[in-house]
Amino acid sequence: MASEDSETFDHDTPLSSDDAADTQDAVSREIASLGEEYRRGGTEETQPRIDYRPYRSSILRHPTKDLHHTDPETIELWAPAFGHQDVNALESDLTIQHNGDPVGERMIVTGRVLDGDGRPVRNQLVEVWQANAAGRYIHKRDQHPAPIDPNFTGVGRCLTDDDGTYRFTTIKPGPYPWKNHHNAWRPAHIHFSLFGTDFTQRMITQMYFPGDPLFDLDPIYQSIVDPKARERLVATYDHGITEHEWCTGYRWDIVLSGSNRTWMEEDEQA
Ligand SMILES: [Fe+2]
Repeated sequence: MASEDSETFDHDTPLSSDDAADTQDAVSREIASLGEEYRRGGTEETQPRIDYRPYRSSILRHPTKDLHHTDPETIELWAPAFGHQDVNALESDLTIQHNGDPVGERMIVTGRVLDGDGRPVRNQLVEVWQANAAGRYIHKRDQHPAPIDPNFTGVGRCLTDDDGTYRFTTIKPGPYPWKNHHNAWRPAHIHFSLFGTDFTQRMITQMYFPGDPLFDLDPIYQSIVDPKARERLVATYDHGITEHEWCTGYRWDIVLSGSNRTWMEEDEQA
């Protein structure tokens, strides 16, 4: 499990309160302008833009120097290995980590991890971290005046089964403010990390909830300029997952564009 001081906190943490000078209207105009520019461009983009001006600190969150190729084989020698014995089944239930029940809407989030050909990705380590129902993270840099829930830490992990399925029981996170601009709020989301088979394949993304009114206003969500690619991050409410007098249910599948198996095959052909 990642430590509380690093990976468990949000990557969208504001860098400084000085970033908060712009209005939502100004940021929304920039989002609209870039969206229009994308629609006219005719080239499909499926990933977030790493330089996306409405997301003010995005320029600081990616390399600005030339990248150097490294040998994945060498990195793997130094990376930790995850075995079945390291992941307890109880770690997938974020509502039972303390003495009492956390406050909020209890829910199940489940889905399948699939490779680019639709095959299940088995025994995949899936980690999640999220704010509590009030939109508050357990982290020293999150000091906005929403209550900490003593019964909710907001981190969990599990392994996918033979069908590629992961499943978490948790609390629906609340939206929360950040300092990108004045009155900036993030849509409710859960952060996901997938390790692949080694650190070189680690993928981190965010899952959102259907119908969130903050989608149009959020520079991080909108940094994926293609609407269809954005919508792939939104879970689906699934009444078949919802349990009688217990919790609601959401389904969200994760499709990896390239599995380790594919990479190895290409490597052998090269
Ligand atoms: Fe977050």
